[in-house]
Amino acid sequence: MTAQLIDGKAIAAQVRQQVARQVEARRESGARRPGLAVVLVGEDPASEVYVRHKHLACEEAGILSFRHHLPANTTQTALEALVDELNADNRVDGILVQLPLPEHLDPRPILERILPDKDVDGFHPYNLGRLAQRMPLLRPCTPKGVMTLLQKSGIKVRGLDATIVGASNIVGRPMALELMFAGCTATVCHRFTKDLEAQVRRADLLVVAVGKPGLVKGEWVKEGAIVIDVGINRNDDGTLIGDVEFTPAAERASYITPVPGGVGPMTVASLLENTLYAAERHAPMKAE
Ligand code: GUN
Repeated sequence: MTAQLIDGKAIAAQVRQQVARQVEARRESGARRPGLAVVLVGEDPASEVYVRHKHLACEEAGILSFRHHLPANTTQTALEALVDELNADNRVDGILVQLPLPEHLDPRPILERILPDKDVDGFHPYNLGRLAQRMPLLRPCTPKGVMTLLQKSGIKVRGLDATIVGASNIVGRPMALELMFAGCTATVCHRFTKDLEAQVRRADLLVVAVGKPGLVKGEWVKEGAIVIDVGINRNDDGTLIGDVEFTPAAERASYITPVPGGVGPMTVASLLENTLYAAERHAPMKAE
């Protein structure tokens, strides 16, 4: 089998246009623009690029974006004070604190301090708990983006054996919750998993989010499986590759996401959806 490519760039563009149309419809109804506050601490170059993308995507969709770039030596107390200020600001529907934070800061109390209804990253224990109990409100962006890719590609996942490689709070764990919610039998692999190859081989649907280039060998992929590669790794020559060996995996899979241009663009698209959703809950569009 040769896999069909899942075009994340095109699907993300569709989602972003849909959000832009809804933002415009809100404005026509007299409702205010949604607002997103993005907080970046320090000078991590990758984070700076991500934050810039988020800002540009907001502008394009008609969402107000409030940027807060704090110095690397910002204290826990100062960052918490900024979160309090943004929680209280009525123009701000969503708050995103870009991770990773500098070593001396503890992200957990920061993420828990964001009001759950402004938690557009979906990382607050309240929102993760809602997803775990099948009553989701704001959902983590990357796993939500993966579900959108599957749905827009016409892939039915109910009943599939899904293997998720990587158990991070940002991707692996919420991904397992999303896939269980969608009716998959979900297995999560992590650093203590005894036989990764065996778990990959039995997957009808494979989601890999570790950040190790070529960790999953193409020959492990089950014939006809759906392969979602969340990894984004930089080669020495600056090109990007995923966590799955692409060419041999694509020979066996039914569908596969490329890197770049697969899952990557979906994270920002989901963030815009979440910001619009939060705004609708704070200040609904007025009926005609
Ligand atoms: N760092 C890498 N991915 C993410 C994300 O989805 N949200 C935040 N806040 N930080 C990240």
